Amino acid sequence: VQEVGCLSIIVLGASGDLAKKKTFPALFHLFKQGFLQENDVHIFGYARSKLSDEDLRERICGYLGQAASTEPTEVLSRFLQLIQYVSGSYDSEGGFQLLNKQISEHEISKRSEPGTSRRLFYLALPPSVYPSVCKMIRRYCMNQSDLGGWTRIVVEKPFGKDLKTAEDLSSQLGELFDEKELYRIDHYLGKELVQNLLVLRFANRLFLPLWNRDNIDNIQIVFREDFGTEGRGGYFDEYGIIRDIIQNHLLQVLCLVAMEKPVSLYPEHIRDEKVKVLQSVIPIKLEEVVLGQYEGYKDDPTVSDSSNTPTFATIVFHIYNERWEGVPFILKAGKALNSRKAEIRIQFKDVPGDIFESKRHGRNEFVIRLQPSEAMYMKLTVKKPGLEMSTIQSELDLSYGLRYQDANIPEAYERLILDTIRGDQQHFVRRDELRVAWEIFTPLLNSIEEGKLRPVMYKPGSRGPAEADELLAKVGYVQTHGY
Ligand code: BG6
Repeated sequence: VQEVGCLSIIVLGASGDLAKKKTFPALFHLFKQGFLQENDVHIFGYARSKLSDEDLRERICGYLGQAASTEPTEVLSRFLQLIQYVSGSYDSEGGFQLLNKQISEHEISKRSEPGTSRRLFYLALPPSVYPSVCKMIRRYCMNQSDLGGWTRIVVEKPFGKDLKTAEDLSSQLGELFDEKELYRIDHYLGKELVQNLLVLRFANRLFLPLWNRDNIDNIQIVFREDFGTEGRGGYFDEYGIIRDIIQNHLLQVLCLVAMEKPVSLYPEHIRDEKVKVLQSVIPIKLEEVVLGQYEGYKDDPTVSDSSNTPTFATIVFHIYNERWEGVPFILKAGKALNSRKAEIRIQFKDVPGDIFESKRHGRNEFVIRLQPSEAMYMKLTVKKPGLEMSTIQSELDLSYGLRYQDANIPEAYERLILDTIRGDQQHFVRRDELRVAWEIFTPLLNSIEEGKLRPVMYKPGSRGPAEADELLAKVGYVQTHGY
């Protein structure tokens, strides 16, 4: 039996924002729970800044919510001892040779047989440097032979800005690494209730006959944030809400809500079904799009005064297949709105031959709240308790906070990094999925850039443009007034 060698996790961009907020905290939580073992794992931070090992450890200690002046807990100290820093630029041969030397020394110290060690490169970096970094890794930092060891590369969105740039990036990375070695993160795929969608849909007899155009009137997938672009205006202004949230996070959720049952849970079977859904999406109609921009967005000095970048969008999608023809999928995302929430709202059709006038309460709805306070609830019409035969709308409610009080709901990045170590690509975006996603959005993005569609202004802290609610009503969504 082949021995598995030690694990090196290399965080490139170790002094940046993503590493600080997501990567290191996720690694720490995995360590705390015993998924990363001291006798096996070593973590390397790589970035341009000139730092010592101790400097980086101190920063990470700060990132993890402990002021450097207070003593780190015992478990945090043990975690910090696993971290070593290497400084170098992202296109420097010397830097990557040094990085390889340090990793190899660690592997030798752990007596890993050549070729058996595992190297996980996490690119917490802007995509503009992906090609050069990947070239350097390929040239200098790969395992020497293939004896059960591996090299895996984790990359973060944005994967391009449109079909062409995304395909260029994919080809560049594809020339260097096999698809099996590339892990494209969409962190929404690591969220508990997103992962639950597959179970919910295919392990419950109740939903099987209902989940189609015969019973469902419309589906909304909504992302709201109650803060603006805060400090990220420069990045955001180049991308906008469609590229930042809808083309990736919400579209991935749409795939899981709409796809057919996969042949098995094998990652390729699941991803095959997701691609089929995307291929069945018909071109977006401009009259089924509402864009918004919050007032004050352009006050950010890094945002251009004439910016037309949407910070809000509602887009109606139609899937042309046997299950979904005629059911609008309304994807809505916005910054600086009145609340922070992500949810899927499945609205059923009216009851035919209704004898209770239950329509006046609205329709049955099944809501899956991804965050905050994970929950699933079903809006039902019931008899109002009492002597009268009158009806009200009420809820069957599964709130995770109440039902699973002791459960630890892991952070998305924690789960996805663990999947990467385990080699499970189910919750990562495959190259063809990415291509079709860009095929869907590129014509719309071009129209926006050509000025054919302009954002409507909305007040920060509001529901967004009223035009979006009008569009929702136009495609069939009926507001419920339950209580
Ligand atoms: C990121 C976007 O991908 O997701 C951000 O770039 C957004 O703009 C964030 O704030 C939202 O993630 P979450 O997990 O807080 O919903």
